[in-house]
Amino acid sequence: MYIDLLKKVLVDYHRINEIEYSPVYESKGNFKSKLVVWANKRLAKFGLAICKKFNFNKENRINGKDWPANADTMIGLKRLDNIEYCIKNILQDNIEGDLIETGVWRGGATIFMKALLRYNNVTDRNVWVADSFEGLPKPNEQKYAADKNDIHFTRSELAISMETVKSNFEKYGLLDEQVKFLKGWFKDTLPNAPISKLSLLRLDGDMYESTMDAITALYPKLSIGGYLIVDDWGAVAGCKKAIEDYRKEHNITEPIIEIDWTGVYWRKER
Ligand SMILES: C[S@@+](CC[C@H](N)C(=O)[O-])C[C@H]1O[C@@H](n2cnc3c(N)ncnc32)[C@H](O)[C@@H]1O
Repeated sequence: MYIDLLKKVLVDYHRINEIEYSPVYESKGNFKSKLVVWANKRLAKFGLAICKKFNFNKENRINGKDWPANADTMIGLKRLDNIEYCIKNILQDNIEGDLIETGVWRGGATIFMKALLRYNNVTDRNVWVADSFEGLPKPNEQKYAADKNDIHFTRSELAISMETVKSNFEKYGLLDEQVKFLKGWFKDTLPNAPISKLSLLRLDGDMYESTMDAITALYPKLSIGGYLIVDDWGAVAGCKKAIEDYRKEHNITEPIIEIDWTGVYWRKER
């Protein structure tokens, strides 16, 4: 019941039938957003801010199809179920290694990983929380053509500070010394991260570059029997291409299994 309730709380499922008010965030370079920023500065004096109104959509929250106003993860219930499934098998089969998500936003998916470890009395595995905590990088079109015109970096609502993510862990009573934070761009933090083995590698960095940097640095550390999860396979063409390129180059043939409209995973066999 704790795990089922936690999943619902992490996606704010209990707010079904309510209206959500999401602040209108700054989106760099966009005229409408500049106007909102200008207006917000003036409204702030009166304790007011411009918000967008959303009717809570149950299907979107099950399938992780929206960017929730308040929830601690945007991945939805099906992809949380998938994390639970993978961790259950990892523990049952004694697959060695820590757990990591690359691209955590408000931290919800990693909070859930930690909850499953705590629930199963596991004290010898770390959960690694890897993010810039400043949003996505500007596309490097020279090096990664697949990221051409990617505008994720303009979305300030994707920039959640490390302090906020830590306090989100604390809210659930799940922040301890086995939760490790890797702050910075993946290309800088992941290649030399002090991680020896992984049993779960969850990629959620949206872009080609972010996906490629993470899988290149970390897949060799994934134990046989461990799981690789790709959050953005269906949602972001660049992410899918990075995975296809990496699999081809490294002759990875394990079947790709669908979780929902965007998430996929496979279990490492060799
Ligand atoms: C879609 S959000 C992740 C959603 C999250 N997994 C959840 O449970 O809701 C993408 C995250 O990836 C991070 N990110 C993307 N590319 C990155 C990179 N190259 N280096 C560091 N962080 C990156 C962003 O800062 C953002 O927090």
